[in-house]
Amino acid sequence: MKDTLITKIIDNIADIRREVSRFKEKKAKIGFVPTMGALHIGHESLIKQAKKECDIVIVSIFVNSIQFGPAEDFDKYPRQLESDREICSKLGVEIIFAPAQEEMYPHSGNSLEESFTMVVPPLTYQDKLCGKSRKDHFNGVATVVLKLFNIVTPDNAYFGKKDAQQLLIIKKMLKDLNLPVQIVDCPAIREPDGLACSSRNKYLTEESRKKALSISKALKKAEELHNSGLSSVSSIISRSGELLHPDLEIEYFEAYNADTLMPVEKMGENVLVAIAVKIDGIRLIDNLII
Ligand code: PAF
Repeated sequence: MKDTLITKIIDNIADIRREVSRFKEKKAKIGFVPTMGALHIGHESLIKQAKKECDIVIVSIFVNSIQFGPAEDFDKYPRQLESDREICSKLGVEIIFAPAQEEMYPHSGNSLEESFTMVVPPLTYQDKLCGKSRKDHFNGVATVVLKLFNIVTPDNAYFGKKDAQQLLIIKKMLKDLNLPVQIVDCPAIREPDGLACSSRNKYLTEESRKKALSISKALKKAEELHNSGLSSVSSIISRSGELLHPDLEIEYFEAYNADTLMPVEKMGENVLVAIAVKIDGIRLIDNLII
């Protein structure tokens, strides 16, 4: 019978540092997939990519309180370490790093503390898209990612393009702070019906999921309009927006330069068309780079 690896779970910083230095002594290339758990096929694709390119794969599972606003779903965010471990074992992940809240933020509560050092990405990367409604969200993301990189010290780290703004902000942080980690961007993964994978898809009822399918339809329409020669961003957005289900609460449906997040009026190469909506209280995001 073939041996199945059982992924080891490590919950404290001292132990993960010890394991990592053992791997480094053997000159192993370390791939890192940071997550908040509730793993789905999007995460699986990041892990598979890391397995292809690295000798050791470490997945972190940490629901990062400081990237959630006070009215957001931190408390009810799905936590399912055992089934996440099964997925990681099946994919050959060597280690899950699943620290407790106190390990990552000793003496701090669920919100940003004035006494805590934060990473603050540039305003031009934060003052639009998700940053507009999720105040401090990207400070929380950048801070935890920097902490995780300092703890795990990976060679490569894998992120999905579905969180396009997050990915750009992390790359900017790496460049500005001279971090020696190679970021590998991986394609956004969709479920067979076109819905972009998200841990929050679990909250959708059958009815709200049907409505949510109009998101990827609208993005596809934007691409088709561009391919048919339409170049005005505002016309593309308003015509494809007609496909969105009327029950969706649209937070933004906008286009920016995919490298700089600067506004664009005409389609050119590398335009990020991104959308965030609420469906029956559940916030979903999606995008296409056209
Ligand atoms: O994309 C996520 O799951 C989170 O924002 C991340 C990068 C793991 C930081 O908490």
